[in-house]
Amino acid sequence: MSESPSMSPTLLIHNLAEVATPEGSAPLRGLDQRRVRRNRGAEVVCRDGRIAFVGPPEERLRLCGELPEADRLDGRGGTLIPGFVDPHTHLPWAGSREEEFAARLAGKTYQEIAAAGGGILSTVAATRRASEEELAANVLRRLDRMLAWGTTTAEAKSGYGLSRGDELKQLRAVRRAAESHPVDLVATLLAAHEVPPEHRQDRQRYLDLICDEIVPATAEAGLARFCDVFCEAGVFTADESRRVLAAGARHGLAPRLHADEFVDSGGAELAAELGALSADHLIAVSAAGVEALAHSGVTAVLLPGTSFFLMKHRYAPARRLVDSGVPVALATDCNPGSSHTESMPMVVVLAVFELGLTIEESLTAATLNAACCLGLGAEIGSIEAGKRADLVLLDAPNLLHLVYHYGINPVAAVVKGGEVVRRAD
Ligand code: NIG
Ligand code: FE
Repeated sequence: MSESPSMSPTLLIHNLAEVATPEGSAPLRGLDQRRVRRNRGAEVVCRDGRIAFVGPPEERLRLCGELPEADRLDGRGGTLIPGFVDPHTHLPWAGSREEEFAARLAGKTYQEIAAAGGGILSTVAATRRASEEELAANVLRRLDRMLAWGTTTAEAKSGYGLSRGDELKQLRAVRRAAESHPVDLVATLLAAHEVPPEHRQDRQRYLDLICDEIVPATAEAGLARFCDVFCEAGVFTADESRRVLAAGARHGLAPRLHADEFVDSGGAELAAELGALSADHLIAVSAAGVEALAHSGVTAVLLPGTSFFLMKHRYAPARRLVDSGVPVALATDCNPGSSHTESMPMVVVLAVFELGLTIEESLTAATLNAACCLGLGAEIGSIEAGKRADLVLLDAPNLLHLVYHYGINPVAAVVKGGEVVRRAD
């Protein structure tokens, strides 16, 4: 995870068909979200973990020289894009829910399974039984798959512990895994993911526990940067969510929300009211919710893999969000119940086919806008001099092939902090 700038040699990436990237360090919205620069034949030089140069070979020769000492990554006529940033995952879980999945394939709904004691609570039981070491090993396996599919930074939520000890155990597992893996992780406390069985008769007590104990303990241990709540009918109300997020904010954990995933629960409006970093899901967001997001500048994190995997045939109103001026980001929602994938290329394909975003809008959503909603827009998310050299080489003659050639892994190589950390062959 940590960069060691003085150790990382200069890297020259050459023989590229194109470099495709959004630009800037602020979220792109409206028509700007599709402003992707496609720089044909450009080269990229990385130095001390950062991007030092992007441009034509002649200019590189003039400004940087031959670079005889540099490591070289032969682009082999491929396309270079920023490393994917996945801003919504539930990575540190134990167990598996393929039997529930089979029940869903046979016609049961996600909510019916949850109401019968399955769903999130079955993963809570397995996660409580797992040790920190086991959880960290699970996270590492998932990070390997993420890296293989081009993700270089991801958010990771707790939310399957639902007690002080088990939430902190999940967050320590995230930290431990990140320490020994190239993918960077940013942690989020999601103690308000569900009410645990022992507090079902007294949810107020669980909210007190979150606000008075879990949030302060998490902040004190420096284990999370954000606080999230599953604001949804049947889970946490808007008022309860407001209370949890206020407690988080008092302890320096910036708010983000699971908002309006299944029914309009006022989550988007709450995200706008609080100036949250993101409002996520939004499958059931109301017109007023879209308006509120547009006026507040909150980023909408859309998770089309969840609609797909839950076979909902209903997707977030991505076009309305973009056209209203809401910055849109994309994420996997990687979790064992509602979206079991680590693949951002898969999410991009769904964004184009099912959300109706353009390929350029989707690239921005999966890189720069995702980085910005994690507070990392100045560091990562685009291929520009000065940013960290987190890059993905696609085995693709241009950006369109990221979606045009679907169902394959298009990633030929991944560069993290200026070093090649993964090659497909
Ligand atoms: O984002 N919405 C709540 N949480 C997850 C699902 C978690 C689970 O089913 O285990 C989600 O969809
Ligand atoms: Fe989620």
